[in-house]
Amino acid sequence: MPNRYLIANWKMNLPPEGIGAFLGAVNADGIVVAPPFPYLREVAAGAPKSVAVAAQNCADQPAGAFTGEVSARMIRDCGARFVILGHSERRNIYGESDAVVAKKTALAIESGLTPIVCIGENLNERERGHAMAVCSGQIAALGMPQLANAGEVIVAYEPVWAIGTGRNATSAMVAEMARAVRDALMRYWPAELAQRAPVLYGGSVTPENAGDLVAHGGIDGFLVGGASLDSKKFLALAESMNLLSSSQNDVMI
Ligand code: 13P
Repeated sequence: MPNRYLIANWKMNLPPEGIGAFLGAVNADGIVVAPPFPYLREVAAGAPKSVAVAAQNCADQPAGAFTGEVSARMIRDCGARFVILGHSERRNIYGESDAVVAKKTALAIESGLTPIVCIGENLNERERGHAMAVCSGQIAALGMPQLANAGEVIVAYEPVWAIGTGRNATSAMVAEMARAVRDALMRYWPAELAQRAPVLYGGSVTPENAGDLVAHGGIDGFLVGGASLDSKKFLALAESMNLLSSSQNDVMI
């Protein structure tokens, strides 16, 4: 398992340069690409060996009459190893509760997927000084029973006010929240899982702000939206995290 991750969340978009061109340009341990469902197989088949695949969501039921839903098992069958759960767009636009996210997390683990669980406060919550309490509550809601058999769970701290706004959290804010997240993990999750859970940051990450966030944010990587649709920008993020091998650096120079 890599100890640092750079995850591309394409949301309901595809890279304008094309999937093949994008995958041909990115190759580094720790990179995970999350395309929309219909492209999972194509990305899994075309990705370099070092690059893993994630879905952006899964059903909160294992199988059955749930029109339009996609199960964790089906995602695994497509060659994905990860699944993003509880993204704020799922929570806020589609009304996913903490309980639903917990159910999905349990099913993902049962199906052999590594969950990437998103947490984060909205602007109002931050302004009222409730950021830590909100994130800690979202972590607590995942609870021990769901996590008892997990090999790895990744946590992505994504403040809602920073997503797609061009306004990233400062490295000082991220460092403070990363510490609070780790404390909450230690309080509410099985100890060993909590200790080694990678904590990522997401929200308007760009090649321009990544260096400072890597150096001072106290995080284990990034979950990236907009900047993950352009292989040049995405590669620059990988470089700022030192994920590129020396041979790739040679090629780039
Ligand atoms: P942006 O990088 O576009 O702000 O999106 C972040 C995000 O939601 C990743 O999951």
